Amino acid sequence: LQSIRVKFTEVRNPGYDILLEPGFLVKSGGILQKRFPGHTPFIISSPAVYGLYGKTLQKSLKKAGFPEAKRYLLPDGEENKNLGHFCMATAGLSWFSGGQPAKPLVLLLGGGVVGDLGGFVAACFRRGAAMVQIPTTLLAMVDSSVGGKLGVDLHTQRGTVKNLVGAFYQPSLVLVDLSCLRSLPAREVRCGLAEAVKMAVLFDPGLFRRMEQGARDLLALKPALLSDVIRLCAAHKARLVQRDEFDRKGERALLNLGHTFGHGVESASRFRVRHGEAVAFGLACACDLSRLLGLSGPKAGLERVEALLGRLGLATRLSRISPVRVLDAMRQDKKFEGELKFVLPVTLGRSRLVTVRSLSKVQEVLASRLA
Ligand SMILES: NC(=O)c1ccc[n+]([C@@H]2O[C@H](COP(=O)([O-])OP(=O)(O)OC[C@H]3O[C@@H](n4cnc5c(N)ncnc54)[C@H](O)[C@@H]3O)[C@@H](O)[C@H]2O)c1
Ligand SMILES: [Zn+2]
Repeated sequence: LQSIRVKFTEVRNPGYDILLEPGFLVKSGGILQKRFPGHTPFIISSPAVYGLYGKTLQKSLKKAGFPEAKRYLLPDGEENKNLGHFCMATAGLSWFSGGQPAKPLVLLLGGGVVGDLGGFVAACFRRGAAMVQIPTTLLAMVDSSVGGKLGVDLHTQRGTVKNLVGAFYQPSLVLVDLSCLRSLPAREVRCGLAEAVKMAVLFDPGLFRRMEQGARDLLALKPALLSDVIRLCAAHKARLVQRDEFDRKGERALLNLGHTFGHGVESASRFRVRHGEAVAFGLACACDLSRLLGLSGPKAGLERVEALLGRLGLATRLSRISPVRVLDAMRQDKKFEGELKFVLPVTLGRSRLVTVRSLSKVQEVLASRLA
């Protein structure tokens, strides 16, 4: 046997910055020109978000000397995070091929749907174009814009499987402009807060306490606490991503807290339940399952999770969704490998990845929360 080993000495990614400042969008052109000279921007956004912020971004780009950015506008909704739109957005970028000297700089202006699909386009175009995440939903600011997990859902004969096709590809920069949240509908604010609660349950009891005390301020988008929540969540995510970029060491897997149940509910409801709402429901289920399996006792304080979600206007019980269909969808999940794995909280600030072989306890949790 002869063998050849392929060794890598080059660090694949030198890292990137997450810049947070209210009113950033106005200055974005200058920031981008400094970091990406010689590039030509291409915007991927949604009609609604581009309508709100496209002009500001274009104006700022022009002021900094960039040519007017071409764009692809992805219609709203999880159902559009699919390969059809992936192809159309990529076709938009094909302007950069065929002898064009311009280097593309893909700007992802929008929520997690734009970020996931548009980022995947950037990852694949010429095997990787420079890409900047400009998240405009709270959910994208606290979670999806950092970490480089990108992709689309796939419609299969058995239903839609979330994020089945995708890649790991890090952005070159993340620009967070808090003032974009002013136009965000209240329902979307709550969705973002669900992912922030997840992060606090996983890593940060201090942040959890502050969210309990400031729940009203968060819903009212008061900037003091909100900017801390965004900064701390992004920092927690960055820390995990640095240690486990490709989700292989089990550390990054912790971010799936609430997501095994959550993805099940999202799919079973045909995406009527939004991602953040499904995560809130999933967090409550994970606390139940932890108690039922004896991983957490009465002193763990996990009842505070459901109470905080309630204060933030997030439902932890849902109706008109069949528990059987949710369990089915959980088994269709891309991560399902014959047994269900859950991240379960042991106490506030500490969770564990647990393989659950007997489904009866999972069924019990679903039956009680979907009554
Ligand atoms: N890649 C990751 O690590 C990761 C992490 C978490 C979630 N996700 C994915 O993110 C997606 C959910 O993202 P989302 O919750 O941001 O939803 P979304 O992208 O669908 O956006 C929600 C809605 O808000 C609107 N909107 C966005 N910004 C706005 C603004 N500033 N003002 C007014 N309206 C605005 C959009 O037009 C849309 O209708 C899911 O597909 C989920 O799987 C990915
Ligand atoms: Zn999520």
